[in-house]
Amino acid sequence: MIQAKVRTKSSSFSPADRRGIYRAIYERRDVRSHFLSAPVPEAVLGRILDAAHHAPSVGFMQPWDFIVIRDESVRRAIHANFESSNRRAAAVYEGEQRKLYDTLKLAGILEAPVNLCITCDHKRPKGSGLGRQSDSATDLYSTVCAVQNLWLAARAESLGVGWVSILDPEKLKAILGVPAPLTPVAYLCVGYVSEFLTSPELEEKGWECRESLTKLIHFDRWDAQDERRAAAMVETIEERKSIGR
Ligand SMILES: Cc1cc2nc3c(=O)[nH]c(=O)nc-3n(C[C@H](O)[C@H](O)[C@H](O)COP(=O)(O)O)c2cc1C
Repeated sequence: MIQAKVRTKSSSFSPADRRGIYRAIYERRDVRSHFLSAPVPEAVLGRILDAAHHAPSVGFMQPWDFIVIRDESVRRAIHANFESSNRRAAAVYEGEQRKLYDTLKLAGILEAPVNLCITCDHKRPKGSGLGRQSDSATDLYSTVCAVQNLWLAARAESLGVGWVSILDPEKLKAILGVPAPLTPVAYLCVGYVSEFLTSPELEEKGWECRESLTKLIHFDRWDAQDERRAAAMVETIEERKSIGR
């Protein structure tokens, strides 16, 4: 029988603490173009991996593993996977959109000194299936929570992170020796950067822009939207204004 140990800490964040977390959220960027070759110390890597490991998970399942990749020959093999997957992805677009696609930098596998692969083990027994009976995909959602924790912690450490999904997952698993039943959820390029862009690179390059939040808020039911009420909710947000965006 596991003894219940419930401890609490002060529930309040100081104003500076609160600003810090919003700053990490608003200033986090997906980075592909601005990596420096400066080494990432193991202790810093340890801190961001521990942030990932403190993510919420369904039933406390903790379905994740983290592969830390520094070896250049491994990164070269992944980069080749990216190049062929990206050629296939590009073929979907035509005309001006294809021209724009071809100008996008969509991975920094070789430029970033560290790459990380975060996997999900669907059969991990921890948590005894609690919370997964109705939706088995919750193990994947949990793993994505770990990725986001890592991404925010990395920003606070001045480390850039770029998520590369343009990869053939089966080839990725073969290169990294990931056991067949596991899913590689995220492949991340990590390193110090020359700059963090103030807005998403895809926005800067004219590919896509941020949707208005007020169009995405519903009240009580899907078909009950009220843009004026939604606008009133978000117009007072100071945290974003204070960082100039
Ligand atoms: C699941 C996922 C997969 C992504 N895959 C790629 C990718 O393959 N290449 C890339 O350049 N960016 C990728 N991104 C980054 C997005 O393009 C980026 O998050 C988005 O443009 C918003 O920019 P921001 O993260 O800087 O706010 C991915 C992001 C997510 C969440």
